[in-house]
Amino acid sequence: MTTATLSAPEILTERLRLRRPQGADAPAIAKLANDFAVASMTTRMPYPYGVEDARAFVSLSQALDPRQQITFALEHRDAGFIGCLGFHRGAAAAPVELGYWLGRPYWGKGLATEATRAALKWATQDWGRRLVASGHFADNAASANVLIKAGFLYTGEVQKRFSRARYGDAATRMMVLIA
Ligand SMILES: CC(C)(COP(=O)(O)OP(=O)(O)OC[C@H]1O[C@@H](n2cnc3c(N)ncnc32)[C@H](O)[C@@H]1OP(=O)(O)O)[C@@H](O)C(=O)NCCC(=O)NCCS
Repeated sequence: MTTATLSAPEILTERLRLRRPQGADAPAIAKLANDFAVASMTTRMPYPYGVEDARAFVSLSQALDPRQQITFALEHRDAGFIGCLGFHRGAAAAPVELGYWLGRPYWGKGLATEATRAALKWATQDWGRRLVASGHFADNAASANVLIKAGFLYTGEVQKRFSRARYGDAATRMMVLIA
């Protein structure tokens, strides 16, 4: 179910609430993000990851124009903050790209799949996106599964993307979902 005002959309699933990140999330973000197994699968997360990084991330998220780009905090009904999901774009003409991460204690429970499916339903039905891109590092089989289950298809393109945590390029298999 989606309750959406454009300025602060919220998405509800069976176990999760996807909502705007808040300053009060910073300690939980830093605790879960300060994990190389998480950060090294993303392009933008630094490692190590401290509370100041989390505060900067929340500020940047809050400054986004939600008509163009958006970040959601993933709040679990029992555990509270467990991770993030967002739709961002590098270049103005490029399609939005889906990205996400969950803290390690919450892996393997279908939560990324649950969040991704609900977020894509919102993005295609309420946010008006017809094309959503994503990609995963070639060594990230879990994320490949999440994206495939959500309906993404491989474009065949493999981009070199810089990972801050790895401090180097990673082969990134690009995918697309057409609504
Ligand atoms: C990728 C990530 C979000 C997955 O979260 P999750 O909640 O564990 O994912 P789900 O449980 O919804 O689904 C994961 C799927 O991958 C499978 N999987 C998990 N680890 C795997 C592995 N090492 N090899 C192959 N498949 C794997 C699971 O079995 C599951 O598939 P299934 O439902 O068909 O069994 C989580 O591992 C994470 O945050 N990783 C670090 C950050 C990251 O990779 N972000 C994405 C960047 S593209």
